Amino acid sequence: MDTKDSVLERAKSKVQTTIQGSVPVEKQVQAAHLLEKAKRLVGRNEPLVFTEQALPDAADVPLTEIDVSNPFLFRQGKWHSYFKRLRDEAPVHYLADSPFGPFWSVTRYADIRSIDNNADDFSASPDIIVGDVPLDIEMFIAMDPPKHDQQRKAVQGVVAPKNLKEMEALIRSRIAEVLDNLPTDRPFDWVDRVSIEITGRMLATLLDFPYEERRKLTYWSDTISGIAEATGGSTHQDEFFEATRQLAVSFMSLWHDKAARLERGEEPGFDLITLMQTSEDTKDIIKRPLEFLGNLTLLIVGGNDTTRNSMSGGVLALHQNPDQFEKLKANPSVIPNMVSEIIRWQTPLAYMRRVATRDLHFGGQFIRKGDKVLMWYASGNRDERQFDNPDEFIIDRANARNHMSFGFGVHRCMGNRLAEMQLRILWEELLERFDRIEVVGEPEYVQSNFVRGYSKMMVKLTPVS
Ligand code: HEM
Repeated sequence: MDTKDSVLERAKSKVQTTIQGSVPVEKQVQAAHLLEKAKRLVGRNEPLVFTEQALPDAADVPLTEIDVSNPFLFRQGKWHSYFKRLRDEAPVHYLADSPFGPFWSVTRYADIRSIDNNADDFSASPDIIVGDVPLDIEMFIAMDPPKHDQQRKAVQGVVAPKNLKEMEALIRSRIAEVLDNLPTDRPFDWVDRVSIEITGRMLATLLDFPYEERRKLTYWSDTISGIAEATGGSTHQDEFFEATRQLAVSFMSLWHDKAARLERGEEPGFDLITLMQTSEDTKDIIKRPLEFLGNLTLLIVGGNDTTRNSMSGGVLALHQNPDQFEKLKANPSVIPNMVSEIIRWQTPLAYMRRVATRDLHFGGQFIRKGDKVLMWYASGNRDERQFDNPDEFIIDRANARNHMSFGFGVHRCMGNRLAEMQLRILWEELLERFDRIEVVGEPEYVQSNFVRGYSKMMVKLTPVS
């Protein structure tokens, strides 16, 4: 960049910072929404809408046209064969045209691991999903070091081992309460009554969000992460902006309320917002509202869909493998290993996206600077080069802990221990109460190329006699 450019860049960034700091965040969200609507009016921005059609078999699609970003791939159960074909025939695969533009797919375990560990050549900025979010919110999962490291450091205390230990009893009592209120005389929706409920309670605790309003967190998370433009979901742009606006208003007020309490000399809590307020790197984040909003959204979305779908996925996996359920009942000490196997088997987030920072060769392919590269964890976790019989669910699998569902490198999931702890407690408490957990009928799946999850799963419980 020449001097003139860099002066202009600095001036632009200063103006942006000033605007960010002085215009209330909900107004900034509304302004971005208006801009998108205006673009729509002049025909510059047609919102994406995905209509489900039966997908052809993997063997019938020309290799160069295989599109694993199709948001119905998981729902239609075609993903095994599509990814197997890519792993075997084109492990670093280029798709020139998709609703999200061109992108590379990396599908073998070892290749994914190597890219995830190489933040210099593969940047997480500006985003980690395949499409574009129509609002420039900044979150540290989509930043590179050193800024990433500072922001992560500021909030990771909330899930530090000491804090988790203190939270364990509370989480257990909340899970027990949810399970004790489940019907045993009729089927019910496991997703709504258990997975969403437990995850919502945990998030409200982490954020010190009003407990009785916790379903709002679920609604915002689902709506924001389900935007069609980003992940092929079913959220329309207008709903996305409205949910983001509501979230912004709510958390700005939570921030100011907490700041006032701190100023009055109240003991600081150990929740996420207080941590941000008391850390040097983030105490002024409120003056950068889109960054504040981004990092809260990250925590809410990161901790929501993922744990929730592991809670539902585990039930489905054990239902489909009754021999494993018997094995579990005979030896409950296998629960921690089973939790890893559930997370491997489910792979709640199908991929993370990177962008090549320079022209480079990888896996025999030439990747250009600026190209999008998707690391498909869902495929790596089923790579027969890494796991024996990878499609089988084996609760005492020896290398289950080597799954890649939490990623690797600087962005490795910050909440992994919390997620594992919740799942461990859930299964400990379930075994105390229920002898059989049957899935009744076919579960309903989320429409997305990113979130691998369930929107409904009817379950029938048989109590321990
Ligand atoms: C990052 C998966 C639970 C918060 C990530 C990444 C993945 C992931 C794949 C990105 C890794 C990479 O790019 O290499 C999961 C799964 C979970 C889970 C499968 C549950 C089974 C949670 C929970 C929280 C959370 C409960 C919140 C408390 C985060 C955050 C990041 C992250 C903040 C960003 C880390 C960074 O960029 O440094 N997670 N996650 N996750 N996760 Fe999780």
